[in-house]
Amino acid sequence: MKALSQKRRHPLAALALLVLGLMLTGGLYAVVTTVNEAKAETTTYTAHEVEEGEKLFVANCATCHGLGASGTDAGPSLAGVGAAAVDFQVGTGRMPMQMQGPQAKQKPKQFNTEQTRQMAAYVATLGDGPALPAEEYLDGKGDAAVGGELFRVNCAMCHNAAAAGGALTRGKFAPPLDGVSESHIYSAMVTGPQNMPVFNDANITPEGKRDIITFLKTIENQGAPGGAKLGSLGPVSEGLFLWTAVLGVIIGFTIWLTSRTS
Ligand code: HEC
Ligand code: HEC
Repeated sequence: MKALSQKRRHPLAALALLVLGLMLTGGLYAVVTTVNEAKAETTTYTAHEVEEGEKLFVANCATCHGLGASGTDAGPSLAGVGAAAVDFQVGTGRMPMQMQGPQAKQKPKQFNTEQTRQMAAYVATLGDGPALPAEEYLDGKGDAAVGGELFRVNCAMCHNAAAAGGALTRGKFAPPLDGVSESHIYSAMVTGPQNMPVFNDANITPEGKRDIITFLKTIENQGAPGGAKLGSLGPVSEGLFLWTAVLGVIIGFTIWLTSRTS
């Protein structure tokens, strides 16, 4: 007993306790965040929306994608691509495609939000696929540090570490990502347009996608053209540095205090 209480008064005991506390909080945080990984998709459409969407589709898309979107030589079948694919392709002005080429060109979009939603509703009836992203993941209030890490691991090889874009083979390219809306970033990840891989919930959780969106919006607002600044001390590394430094000072101060009183 005596030995134990003596050990407890050892200046290093405070440090050990603090480290233990920090580790516990970290562990708890991990548990809480995994529990929070709810399903991202819940959308319901009215029969009216589906009907209007089919009309728009027949008039504007069926020449290439076929009646019932079953596909032709000029365009793939859309069964199972999901509402998110339509929202992305039409919302970014890629579809309706005008010219055949290695990659659908982005043009000013031709349909308003309501019409895009209607066509998405129609395509969603053709087969299960990714639905429109839930608002809660689009608020840009995720963790930019985690998002930056996920981006460097999963996206930077094509889009460049500063999201400035890059060339791929056969005349294709990964576009720069500034100015892309939150919901289009999300739907790009779940639908994987062109050469881009699909990042489903198992690859990157909805929370992780929210973090990536937050990261992209953060560097967009900082405006680092050409991506020169990313490697240097960004807000992430600066924050981490500050955190560690301040924590060190607090620990030091605590140890000093306890050693003075005893
Ligand atoms: C001129 C032909 C053409 C027209 C018109 C056209 N598309 Fe496409 N569409 C394509 C081709 C080719 C692709 C595949 C190549 C690509 O994605 O760049 C494609 C891809 C798509 C995809 C992505 C499929 C996937 O696997 O993710 C969607 C969604 C889509 N089109 C929806 C539409 C909608 C909605 C319209 C009408 C508003 C439309 N398209 C009009 C040719 C066309
Ligand atoms: C293998 C290369 C590759 C990887 C890896 C990749 N992308 Fe892409 N990405 C592309 C290509 C190619 C396009 C263009 C598709 C098109 O134009 O149809 C694209 C398009 C996009 C767009 C749409 C941009 C716009 O201007 O509308 C977004 C957003 C996007 N990617 C985000 C991501 C994110 C986030 C990741 C990582 C989680 C990622 N991409 C990983 C190749 C890639």
